[in-house]
Formats: sequence, structure tokens, C-alpha cells
Amino acid sequence: MAYRIDIMTLFPDSMRGVLGESILGRAAKKGAIEINCVQIRDYTENKQMQVDDYPYGGGWGLIMMAQPLKSCLEDIMSTAGGRRSRVIYLSPQGKTFTQAEARRLKQDYDHLVLVCGHYEGVDERLIEACVDETLSLGDFVLTGGEIAAMAVADCVCRMVPGVLADEACFTGESHWDGLLEYPQYTRPEVWEGRAVPEVLLTGDHGKVTAWRRRKQLERTLDRRPDMFERLELTDKTDLRLLEEIRAERSPEAQRPVFDFRRAEPEDMDNILEMAADASEYLRFQGVDQWQNGYPSREAFARDISLGQGWLFTCGGKAAAYAALSMAHEDTYDTIDGAWLTDMDGYAAVHRVMIAADYRGTGVGREIFSLAEDLAAGNGRVSVRVDTHRENGPMLGLLAKLGYRRCGVIRLVASDGNDPHRDAFEKIVLE
Ligand SMILES: C[S@@+](CC[C@H](N)C(=O)[O-])C[C@H]1O[C@@H](n2cnc3c(N)ncnc32)[C@H](O)[C@@H]1O
Repeated sequence: MAYRIDIMTLFPDSMRGVLGESILGRAAKKGAIEINCVQIRDYTENKQMQVDDYPYGGGWGLIMMAQPLKSCLEDIMSTAGGRRSRVIYLSPQGKTFTQAEARRLKQDYDHLVLVCGHYEGVDERLIEACVDETLSLGDFVLTGGEIAAMAVADCVCRMVPGVLADEACFTGESHWDGLLEYPQYTRPEVWEGRAVPEVLLTGDHGKVTAWRRRKQLERTLDRRPDMFERLELTDKTDLRLLEEIRAERSPEAQRPVFDFRRAEPEDMDNILEMAADASEYLRFQGVDQWQNGYPSREAFARDISLGQGWLFTCGGKAAAYAALSMAHEDTYDTIDGAWLTDMDGYAAVHRVMIAADYRGTGVGREIFSLAEDLAAGNGRVSVRVDTHRENGPMLGLLAKLGYRRCGVIRLVASDGNDPHRDAFEKIVLE
């Protein structure tokens, strides 16, 4: 016996056009399904064949009358025989239609009657008296129930044996097992410069299956986190793939990798660009530091010639700069406070700059890590650094890295801004 769907509508012809085509049309011809679109107007009992009237209580629009709908339904049911029938009203007020609902309707019934409302809807008493359940296509309002009825009919029918070539055609698709489907490709191999993923060309069935499953998990995780949360994954392969995905997305795996080297004269343009950017950043933060052309080209050139300018790069792009000096600093001879160590046993960090694209990426931490390694390697017991008392990002970084605030120093070569700096030190060699 074919799976039967009767659709009660005011527009049967336009629906027949859609449902009679392609896969469903062929399945109906083969006798796997039967879809009837029934004109509600044929069941009116008034001369004008009127199906609607004004709402009691006033208000906009027209309401479909109960009588033609009831007569239409009775006629349909008179031919249903011993089928397991279900009368469904399509309405934005119904339970949302999903693949799971479609599976239920396909499994529990072999006859659906889909009632399409129009205008402002249907007389509530008809729904109370005749409808088994109400389904909605989603949280939006359509002019009529026809599009929703066609969606329900199409979705249910494609699961009926004999409609698609094989069960796998629908069990492997999105929403069947709570996942979205993997991406699909067809010829040509390269289209507008975009190549098909290589694994799909290997002919290795195991690899293709694993890749597809992984894509299903990734897609669902990214596009439908609500669905992903409802999943109860127990399969070992799924759990392993998920672990792989999570590991790749962990902050550690995402963190950019930095290289560092001594700066060269050819790096000057990049360094000056970072300096201009840092000056702007400080000005924006309201910090009275590096606002008068300092650090200058001369200061960087000196760093480079002394081999104490260090450039950090990421994928070849300049990411940060700092001067790491092992020399005595006159500026540190006097402090309003007390250093942790005796004079000259220290290394000093100056002119720390991080390119705008790399703020917050951890490169600041790497600068100080290099400074501490170089200091220890050169037999220095500590690293000293100074910064403006309002330079929040630098103060935060120093605190995180364990630098102790020792007092206030006064810059010998002032840049014309506030010459006072908070001074910090960290012991690196006990
Ligand atoms: C304009 S709507 C009526 C909406 C109704 N006045 C309300 O606010 O709930 C007319 C008809 O379109 C159909 N319809 C509209 N939106 C729908 C949806 N999201 N799902 C299923 N059917 C819908 C229903 O059959 C409904 O009777």
C-alpha cells in the first residue's frame, strides 16, 4: 500500500505542479507514494462557494470557515480505509517540524492529511474538533500553509521505500543522526582556482570516510552548536576525531609562532613603523611616553650597531622589537627606592614595541624570556626595565612575569615628556 498524503488547500493546481515533478513525481507513478491535493472550495455549502468570513470581535483579515474544511476532511477520511491516519494543521503556532518529526510521521502513520490555512487562519473550533496535531515550518509567518505542507510531504515521502534509490541516500544526510553532512564536490577538479580537497582524490576509502566524519563534526560544532550540545557521541572514532579537532583549536595550537634574531640595518623601516604605531597607541591610552620623536632612528641604529636590537617575526612579518643591553646604565645609578641587586650585575630591556597585529599574542612574554636567557647566559643576576607609571599593558605584563617594582628613576636623556619611570627588576641567576 502506497504511503498516502492528502493536502487540503485552496491552491491544489500550483501544488500538484511542484509535487508531481522529479523524484516525488516518479515515485507516485511507480506507486510508492500517493499525493492528492484537494480543493477545499469544492466542499462549500453556499452559492458563492465562500470559504472565509470576517472574524468575530473585529480585526484584520478573513478566517477560513469550519464547515468546508470539515466536509473536505470527512470526504478524504471516507476513502482512507484501514490506514493509520493523522490530521495535521500547518501553522506558525505549531511544534517546529524537524527531520525527527518527519521520521515519526513516516514510522507511525501511512496516511497524512495536511490542512493548509490561508488569510488570517482557520476557525479555532475546526482545529479543536478535527486536528490531531499542529506543525510549524519555523518561527516566521507565511501567507498560506501550502509551502509548509509541501515541505512536510516532500521530507516524509523521500524516506518511503522506493522513492530514493537506497536508504543510504537519506540516512547519510544532515540531521539524520544529529550531525550536518560533510562538504561535497563534483567535477571539475579545480574550479575558479579552488581545488577539491586532496583526500577525496586518493581513492583511499578509509581516509575519505574519516575525513568526511571529521568534517561532519566540525561543521556541526561551528554552524550548529545547539545541535552539537545535544549529541551523545560514544563511538571511539568520533571521540578521537573530536579530540583532534579540540587540540587543533586549543589556544596553544592557535598561538602564533615567533622567530627572533638580531635586528639588521635593513629592518629600520619596519622598526620605525612599529615605533610610530607604539607612540600612537600610548597617546591613545593617555600615556605621556614616547610622544616627542623618541625612540629615534638614531637610538635604533645604535641598538643595531651594538648588536642589542632584537626583532621578533611571525611568518616573516615584523611582530615586535626590543633592545636588550648588558651595558651599565647611568639612568639606573640613582633610584628613589632600592634595586634588588648590586650595581652592574644586570641586563636591561629598553624600547619594547609590539606591532598592532600582534598585541595580546604572547610575543611580549617571549621578549622577556629572551632577555632573561641572554642575561643569565652573560652571567647577569637580574633583568631591569623601566616604564611609565601609566603604561598599563607593560605594567600588567611585568607583574605577570614576576618583575618587582623597586622605585622610581629619572631618565638621564629625557624625551621631553615626563622623565620619571617606574623601575622594575627580576632576579634570573641565584
Ligand atoms: C498568515 S498565516 C496566519 C497566521 C496567524 N494569524 C497567526 O498569527 O498565527 C496563514 C496561514 O499560513 C500558514 N502558515 C503561516 N506560517 C506558517 C508556518 N511558519 N508554518 C506552517 N504554516 C504556516 C498557516 O496554515 C496559516 O493558517
